[in-house]
Amino acid sequence: MDVAAALATRKSVRAFSSRAVPINIVRDILEQSARSPSGSNLQPWRVYALVGQARDELIRRVKSKLPDLPRGEPPEYNIHPPDLFEPYKSRYMRAAALMYHARGIERDDAAARLRHLANNWEFYGAPVGLIFTIHRRMEPGQWADLGMYMQSAMLLARGYGLDTCAQEAWALWPRTVRECLSIPAEDMVVCGMALGYADESAPVNAFVSERVPFQEYAAILETIEPGSAS
Ligand SMILES: Cc1cc2nc3c(=O)[nH]c(=O)nc-3n(C[C@H](O)[C@H](O)[C@H](O)COP(=O)(O)O)c2cc1C
Repeated sequence: MDVAAALATRKSVRAFSSRAVPINIVRDILEQSARSPSGSNLQPWRVYALVGQARDELIRRVKSKLPDLPRGEPPEYNIHPPDLFEPYKSRYMRAAALMYHARGIERDDAAARLRHLANNWEFYGAPVGLIFTIHRRMEPGQWADLGMYMQSAMLLARGYGLDTCAQEAWALWPRTVRECLSIPAEDMVVCGMALGYADESAPVNAFVSERVPFQEYAAILETIEPGSAS
């Protein structure tokens, strides 16, 4: 698969078949992703791939805590700015509304929304769960590097006929994930990712997210007025 096709067909899949992913493919994806660029070649990404009993144990531990903590533990970083502002707030609301609609969840059905959140913590049924961490002293540039590594993994997955869903929802269980995976204290749980074969029959997977028009985020500049706003 070429890069454009991988990019065009990548989307967040939120229901997976139980079909196992060969371990050598998981390893290939995670190893090839390390060809991602990083500022000063710091390669700040760290990743834990959970399969089989290891995956099930993390899910079990989270599930056992859900009755007391239905929205998880206090995260170690702000997943969004605390007061999300325009135009991002509207995009957030619209993305959530469209996704809940695709799942058949009514706007004010709080219990169904919580169930959807909890589905994250089963990796949406994917047989492979990835947890990404970074040293807590790293700066935004290194977080961007980690994002590039994650995107590489998502594109490479397409080449193997696999699908993914990045999941910051896993950042809502920093203590439980840390304990379960023996993550060093200096590392932060940044994000998770479900990896597996899409359940093609699941209605939620028919959902294709929107994008804002090109001119809202990009400018191609060919001339700049001499002396303007200098
Ligand atoms: C860093 C990151 C974290 C995300 N976390 C979640 C998550 O916790 N749960 C989820 O269902 N989707 C999550 N997503 C998926 C986004 O909602 C999705 O990428 C966005 O709506 C665009 O849709 P698409 O991926 O299908 O193109 C995340 C995506 C990224 C890049």
